[in-house]
Amino acid sequence: MNDSAKIMEWYMLGGVDAVCGDTPFSIVPSGAENTPRMAENSAQTEYRPATTDLAQENNAARKSAKELCEKAQTLDDLREILERFEGCSLKFSANSTVFGYGNPDADVMIIGEAPGADEDRIGEPFVGRSGQLLDKMMSSIGLKRDDCYISNVLPWRPPGNRNPTDGEIAVCLPFLQRQIELVAPKILFLLGASAANSLLDNADTVAAMRGKAMEYSTSSGNKILALCSYHPAYLLRNSAQKAKSWNDLLYLREKIEEMKLLV
Ligand code: URA
Repeated sequence: MNDSAKIMEWYMLGGVDAVCGDTPFSIVPSGAENTPRMAENSAQTEYRPATTDLAQENNAARKSAKELCEKAQTLDDLREILERFEGCSLKFSANSTVFGYGNPDADVMIIGEAPGADEDRIGEPFVGRSGQLLDKMMSSIGLKRDDCYISNVLPWRPPGNRNPTDGEIAVCLPFLQRQIELVAPKILFLLGASAANSLLDNADTVAAMRGKAMEYSTSSGNKILALCSYHPAYLLRNSAQKAKSWNDLLYLREKIEEMKLLV
């Protein structure tokens, strides 16, 4: 093994699985250079913005995302706008921008959290282990992947599959909200707390939300039925919850029939 392979192995053993940029930076907030050691190094080191600066940056990025999204008249426009958008740092550690996939006229839109490693590599949502389980779940109630439209709260993979931050979700949400307006589904099937909490603007658990008919309002005031269930990645780790997930799928099927949807 040569030296660079040894260094890579060392990083991987330490849990590093993504490169976040070419230039090293300190995670110590500005202001911390008041400590003697930091003051000594501050001339050479690039510091990350303090938390308040970060919040301001996120607010500005969210505002710009909203304005850009309003211009998108089609899903293709929106994809192009998203691919050019640089307001979320997750973009710089990801390999792909994972936009929604499926039938643009679908009655059922399925929403997860964020791409994982497989989705990041292939550039399509839900194609890894969670996606394979999702396909089986949908086919158990007679739905095919291509009948639905599938998307995520975040279009970029958080490094190491860490949980997305509130700031990242806030910046990326306008893109998902516009996708929902452009697809105009009759039912949203929200998988996991990130999707449900961000779209329904609450902090409830999946356990508290599942089995209920909730409502999502678009910016133009249209109401869409929203059903919530466990995320497939959670089901892969907690197979005892699959029985509840099966009940949620039957509830989805019941609503599809009640609303006479052609999926
Ligand atoms: N998990 C998600 O939430 N979305 C994907 O696309 C894949 C895994």
